[in-house]
Amino acid sequence: MTMDASQRITALEAVSTDSTVLFRVTNAADELREAVLVANESGDSEPDLACWLNYCQHLTHIKIDKGSGAPMRDGELVCANHGAYFDADSGVCTYGPCEGAYLTGLEVTVADEAVYLTDDDYTYVGDGPIDDDDDLTSTSNVKI
Ligand code: FES
Repeated sequence: MTMDASQRITALEAVSTDSTVLFRVTNAADELREAVLVANESGDSEPDLACWLNYCQHLTHIKIDKGSGAPMRDGELVCANHGAYFDADSGVCTYGPCEGAYLTGLEVTVADEAVYLTDDDYTYVGDGPIDDDDDLTSTSNVKI
């Protein structure tokens, strides 16, 4: 399969079971969103990967990875705000105020030791968090 180089997220070796890889996408409405890649212990030589939008299901404006990697506990993503746990493989909340709710999944594909976004509804934008200061910078009221 030939992969679209513009949709390459990261090298496969950069995805770990300890934390998350944060990146930006746009959705079908051209809205900027954050997503995280995470690896799960599969027992095989290659880990299973999962990809989720980076928003808690308790308060959906709250980011699980706040820019330095989401905390992981035994294969679960932890939302530090109120302690919700999400199974990193299935995305289901196993404990916390949104127990039973699911993170929104994005489709990714591994090819040639790299991970590509292959979800028809999302387009890869770049690595790292959304820069929330972008709008502030362009409308700065700071007087010199
Ligand atoms: S915002 Fe994530 S647990 Fe409350």
